[in-house]
Order: sequence, then C-alpha cells, then structure tokens
Amino acid sequence: MPYSEKVMDHFTNPRNMGELTCPSGVGTVGNAQCGDIMRVYLDIDEAGVIRDVKFKTFGCAAAVATSSMATELVKGKTIHEALRITNKAVCEALDGLPPIKIHCSLLAEEAIHAALWDYAEKHNITIEGLSKPKSDIHEEEEDEEY
Ligand code: FES
Repeated sequence: MPYSEKVMDHFTNPRNMGELTCPSGVGTVGNAQCGDIMRVYLDIDEAGVIRDVKFKTFGCAAAVATSSMATELVKGKTIHEALRITNKAVCEALDGLPPIKIHCSLLAEEAIHAALWDYAEKHNITIEGLSKPKSDIHEEEEDEEY
C-alpha cells in the first residue's frame, strides 16, 4: 500500500517542526525496531493547555508525518485530552499507514508522553493515566544535537 496523500502532505510539509527555547516539557524517545529518534517540546500554560508544540526527528517519512499530525492534534488541547490521542487516532487522521510502518507512529505518541512526564516531574505533579516512558533518552541525550 502506498502512502496516503495526507501522509505525503505532512511528510513534505511537516507542521510544527523545530524546537521551543523555553519548553514546559521535553521528551526524547527512540524506536527500538529501527533506531530512529524523536524529540517533542511542549509549552503548557497554567490551565494545563498545550499552547505550543514542536518536534525534531531522525526518522523516516512515516515518523515525520505522524509527528506532524500528532503535534497538530495535541495543540490547543488539555493535557488529559492530549493523553487520549493514540497513535491509532493519528494513523486514522492520516488515512492510514502501510502495516509495516505502523511502528513508526508510536514514536510520536511516546515522545509526547515523555514530554508530558518531563513537565509533570518539573512541576512536581502527577498526571493521571500517564506512566513513566520506557524509552525516554532525554537524560543521556540532553546536550547532544542531532
Ligand atoms: Fe524508523 Fe519509521 S523506520 S520510525
């Protein structure tokens, strides 16, 4: 199955690519299957609304497209609304991914969760339904540019 038009659109014209200088939370995760890396930056206001979000990736076309769509879907949402946006929802919003590329969509979801976890730790709060990300490599990669 080839990529959908929406996947191609988000890959060739990714939304929210880049970084935030003063993020509320940052999450960096790696995909165990291919070694690709994704970093997500969140700007969250006092009411717990995601004001802005950016991402950077060392990833494939599907990873770029799913991250672009995932960041579009979480922008303007509350933390709890953002938590309910799964990689399945992101894939559906992109009109599907080839089965072999589904694992790529996990990178965006995991990176957003890792950024929320970082935000919660920095603010000393617990976010119900959010568990510690397994593959957050933020600590080790903190000073590395990629
Ligand atoms: Fe690595 Fe897609 S092949 S994220």
